[in-house]
This record gives sequence, C-alpha cells and structure tokens, in this order.
Amino acid sequence: MNNKTLIDKLRLLKKDALIGGGEDRIKKQHEAGKLTARERIDLLLDKDSFHETDMFVTHRSTDFGMEKKKILGDSVVTGWGTIEGRLVYVFSQDFTVFGGSLSQVHSEKICKIVDMAMKNGAPLIGLNDSGGARIQEGVVSLGGYADIFLRNTLASGVIPQISAIMGPCAGGAVYSPALTDLIFMVKNSSYMFVTGPDVVKTVTHEDVSFEELGGSSVHAEISGVCHYVAESEADCLFLIRVLLGYLPQNNMEDPLFVDTNDDPLRSETALDNIVPENANKPYNVKDVIRLIVDEANFFEIHAGFAQNIVVGFARLGGHSVGIVANQPAHLAGVIDIDASDKASRFVRFCDSFNIPLVTFVDVPGFLPGTAQEHGGIIRAGAKLLYAFCEATVPKITVIMRKAYGGAYDVMNSKHIRADVNLAWPSAEIAVMGPEGAVNIIFRKELSESEDIDETRKKLVDEYRETFANPYVAASRGYVDDVIEPHETRPRLINALEMLSNKRDTNPAKKHGNIPL
Ligand code: HXC
Repeated sequence: MNNKTLIDKLRLLKKDALIGGGEDRIKKQHEAGKLTARERIDLLLDKDSFHETDMFVTHRSTDFGMEKKKILGDSVVTGWGTIEGRLVYVFSQDFTVFGGSLSQVHSEKICKIVDMAMKNGAPLIGLNDSGGARIQEGVVSLGGYADIFLRNTLASGVIPQISAIMGPCAGGAVYSPALTDLIFMVKNSSYMFVTGPDVVKTVTHEDVSFEELGGSSVHAEISGVCHYVAESEADCLFLIRVLLGYLPQNNMEDPLFVDTNDDPLRSETALDNIVPENANKPYNVKDVIRLIVDEANFFEIHAGFAQNIVVGFARLGGHSVGIVANQPAHLAGVIDIDASDKASRFVRFCDSFNIPLVTFVDVPGFLPGTAQEHGGIIRAGAKLLYAFCEATVPKITVIMRKAYGGAYDVMNSKHIRADVNLAWPSAEIAVMGPEGAVNIIFRKELSESEDIDETRKKLVDEYRETFANPYVAASRGYVDDVIEPHETRPRLINALEMLSNKRDTNPAKKHGNIPL
C-alpha cells in the first residue's frame, strides 16, 4: 500500500474511534442532558491541548458474543493536556460504549495514565460515567478495579486526584472516586451507589429512586461523599479548572502565587462590628472570610455537609490558603461527628499539598448527647485533633469569639504546633462558657441562694469578666497577639510571608495511625 492509502486508513480508524458507541448512543446521551466523554474533555482542557493515548485499544472478551462487538478505544478516553497551561492527566469514561463499564483494557488505560501522572508529578482528573464492572468480563473486571484502587491509594498525597461524577456510577465505579481527594457531582444527572435501586429492592424491599439513593444532594448534604455540586456539566468542568488554580502540581511543589490588585494592607472596618455583642447571637463566618481574602473570592467545598464548619480555598496577598472556620450561624458552630470528618480530611489534604492553613475560631465546644457519643464523636473529634497536630504547613489561627474546652485545643491551638495565633478582643477562651461553668463550680452557692437568678447572673458576669476574654491566654503566650479585627487581613498576609520558608517535620515512621 502506498503512503497515502496508509494515512487514509489511519484517518478512517481515528474517525471511527472518535464516535465511540455510535451516533445513536451519542444522541441518547445528549437527550439525557449529558455530554459525551470527548466533549467533556474539550471543555475541561485548554483548547487543542489534549493528547490521547490508547485510541486503538479494544477489549479482549470473547464470551457472550463480545468478540463481535469491539469498539476502538473501548469505554474510556485517556490522555493528557493542560489547564491554564499546566499539565494534567485525564480519563473520561464513555457511557456510549457498554455503559462506560470497566473492562480489563479500560482499567489498563486508566492505570497507564495514573502511572504517568505519578511519574511526571501532575494532577489526575477522572470524569466518571460508568455502569461499574463489565459484567461480561467477570472477575477480570474486578481485578481491573483493584488495579486502579491500588494506584489511587499510592498516588494519594503525591498528586492531586479530582473526580467528577457525570452520570450513574455504580458498584466499583464509586470506589475509585472515593479514594481520590475531591468529588464533584452534577445536579440531577449524577448518581453514586454501591448497589442500585433494583438490588436494594431485592435485598431490603425498599423502594427508592436513583436520586433518593445516591443523587448529588444525598452525597453533598447527608453522606458527605461529594465535595461540590455543580449546576451543569459545563459548570462542573469549569469549577475543576478554577479549583486547580489553588493547588500545586504535586506534593513536592508549592501552590501557584497569583498576583492580586487587592491591597495586602487593606483594613476592613466592617470586621470591627461583625461579632455581635451578645455572645449567643450568630453571625455568618463566610462574611468574615470574604471580607479578608483577596477579592472576596472563597472557593468553598463541602458547603452542604456539616454546615457548622466551613472549609475551602482562597488567596491572601496572592498566596493560596486552606481555610477552616467554625460557623456560628449553624448549630452555633459546635463540632460534631460530621464536622470533624469534614475538617480533618480537608486539613490533611492541605497539609499533603503544602497549602498553608488559616483557621477562624468561634466554637462553643463538642456537641453533647447520646447520638454523638454513641456515634463516635470521640473517634471523630480525635481525627480533627490528629490532623491539625500532624500538619506541618504554615498554620495560622484567629480566635474571633468562643474557644471553649477541647474545641479550643483542637482548632489549631498554639499547643499543637500552630505558628501564629491571633485573637480579637471579643475572644472568650476558657474551659467552658460562663453559664455552664457557673452551674458547676457554684452549685452549692446557687442552691443556697435566696434569689437564684440574680445570684447566677452576678456569678456569670464575674466569670465572663475574669475568664471569657483573650488576655489570660495572651498572658501565657497561647495567643501571640490580640488584634483589632480590621487589621486581620494585613496581619494574616504578613504571617504567611513570614512563614514562607517554614520547615517542620514529623518523626520518621511508616505512617501514623489516624483514628479512622
Ligand atoms: C456491561 C453494561 C453495564 C455493565 C450498563 N451496561 N452497565 N454493560 N456491564 N456493568 C450497558 C447496558 O447493557 C446498555 O447497553 C448500556 O450499557 C446502557 O445501559 P442502560 O441500562 O441502557 O442505561 P441506563 O438506563 O441509563 O442505566 C444505567 C445503569 C444501569 C444504572 C448504570 O445500566 C445499571 O444498573 N447497570 C449495572 C450496574 C451494576 O450493577 N454494575 C455492576 C456493579 S458490581 P446497550 O447495548 O443496551 O446500549 C461492580 C463490582 C466492582 O462494579 C466492585 C469493586 C469494589
């Protein structure tokens, strides 16, 4: 054959591969409001930056007549490209080919690019849309999943791994995302479940819809599996691009510095009155965060889950930071099991990827009660302690109001290696709040008092005056300075720059044993 014929053949093969499961199935995908695997990659990556691998791979199955149903590339598109000019590796499961199900070669294609991402130190982005293990391939497909799980685990903490769920993800298809750092879902079109509604009906006789079993709101608000719910697929892919701007390429690099027009010395007088004078009144900590960070840009994650604690990314003076903040506007900012799980995972993510932590504290304590105790608040709260204790990135704390009890220790206190601890004059740092403390230490006086309410009020006022302020902690050096709230932004930026060469380590060990 002459060269022209050879090139024509190649072009035909590539054209064939580009249509995956065929025009009819692409039409069906579009009718379901979904994009194809390749359309998603086009939206995710910089224009014309995608380089595909393994376009000619086909499955090796011969059972159930599968030898007659081979599709070039099989059910996943893999390769690399750039986002804002930075290298990323990507796989995008093709639902038009056997429902995006995972064959042996599908797994091999993914493993190949995870290995490349690891060797070359760049993020991995998985666009998931899969019916799980390829039923026709049996155990070979299960083995394929395990090969991916192993790589996700080994890559954890080495390169950022981001998963987008863009369709029904069942069975094994949920566990690879679950091993990655952050999971995005799309409203009304993505689902995650270990077993689908049919199996649930057979085993537990429950009638449940896709949405009720594993829709985006379930995982964003109840299970906490999902970190971000996007309005549409395009929105989801755009948000992943934005998120990557806050992250380094790998654990050996620092996050990008992005110059800002927002004055690092900007003083924000609104902060001086943001904490209500009545200690029992709430305020929204996200207002505090937005007033302080560059250009009021706060990329919150896990927003619908455990709303009593807020986590997300922002920039201060151009430096990327991870923010952890108690939320007085939800359950008074108390720490419960879900809040501990949410924040500890975030703290460990930031620490893995050299993202400094800024912690805003207003916490009345751990949530009391049998539900929490029986549910394991001790174990969950210990995770948060562990996460802050082991983190060696620059750690800065601002105590805005309450810092009571164990929650004071947990929320990045000086004692657990925080570098710079600041407090506002409204800070109340003590073993417990005035009412609780008075009821315990003055029980006898209260029971003998003629006017119990009047006596309690007097004692509460005395306690508040003596203990519920920042100066006892400041006198011991547990907070480095008490600052006026409007100075918070310049003080944080100064602290970050002062800490920019910070080096700290943990003792050599195989790995610690976080109380999971
Ligand atoms: C092979 C599959 C498949 C699978 C779907 N298809 N799932 N082929 N293996 N696992 C095929 C269908 O036969 C169909 O082919 C096409 O993909 C589209 O599927 P539909 O059912 O028509 O689509 P839809 O109605 O949107 O439903 C999607 C779905 C459903 C919810 C994903 O297909 C489904 O429930 N699939 C099975 C899910 C599952 O139980 N997987 C195994 C999990 S066990 P045609 O040719 O008709 O277009 C597992 C173990 C791993 O993963 C454990 C590791 C820890």
